[in-house]
Amino acid sequence: MDPPPALDVGCGTGRLLLDFLAHGLYVDGVDISPEMIELCRQKAQALGLHPVIYQQAMESLDLPRRYRTIFVPSSSFQLLTDLEAAREAMRRLFAHLQAGGVLAMPFMLIWKEGEPVEHQDWKLTGEKVRLEDGALARRWSRARYDVENQLEHTEDRYEVSLNDEAIELEHHRRSPATRWYTQAQAVDLYREAGFTDIQILSESTRQPASADEAIFTVIGRKP
Ligand SMILES: C[S@@+](CC[C@H](N)C(=O)[O-])C[C@H]1O[C@@H](n2cnc3c(N)ncnc32)[C@H](O)[C@@H]1O
Repeated sequence: MDPPPALDVGCGTGRLLLDFLAHGLYVDGVDISPEMIELCRQKAQALGLHPVIYQQAMESLDLPRRYRTIFVPSSSFQLLTDLEAAREAMRRLFAHLQAGGVLAMPFMLIWKEGEPVEHQDWKLTGEKVRLEDGALARRWSRARYDVENQLEHTEDRYEVSLNDEAIELEHHRRSPATRWYTQAQAVDLYREAGFTDIQILSESTRQPASADEAIFTVIGRKP
């Protein structure tokens, strides 16, 4: 019989999911976005892999299986900007674990006391050459922080240029885009949902995080 599978929540285009499958691990994926799932399926097909992927939101997760491990990589849990939706997602993730199963989620403290509450200047945050035609794709970003509600609001400008001429332009505003949590608040979320043996780890290591670390992973067990 196959070992109990893991679940990659917010699997996107399969950056991690497809790697895990290629290594022979049993991992299902779930993502809210049909476009991301379609890209993931295309990549899987090219690699000869057959992922099980569900299109669902984590805050209304309702899957037929129960998992030994559930992970939400890339701080994607913080994309739930509504606190009640975040609490509901925690309840759903808990419900989808087998007894003894573990939930692991990395968090990023996006704003810290003393830092500016707004970055008005655009900052180049991504740059890549498109293989097909050599066009240069670039992203500029800026953000502001609602400190009281712990919400980040972002704007991104995308430009694709060929021979120094802009051929595609897009402007995206996400308001709010992301919620941030302190270590204590993240632990409270786990506790409220029923998790025990909660640990705060440094970045994506197995070492305990120090209290001032902004990038940390929280792990909790379903009793
Ligand atoms: C930052 S990407 C991470 C993708 C992938 N895990 C990785 O590390 O490359 C966030 C992903 O979460 C998905 N997502 C956003 N909100 C979600 C939600 N409420 N439920 C499930 N997936 C969600 C997005 O569609 C996107 O694919």
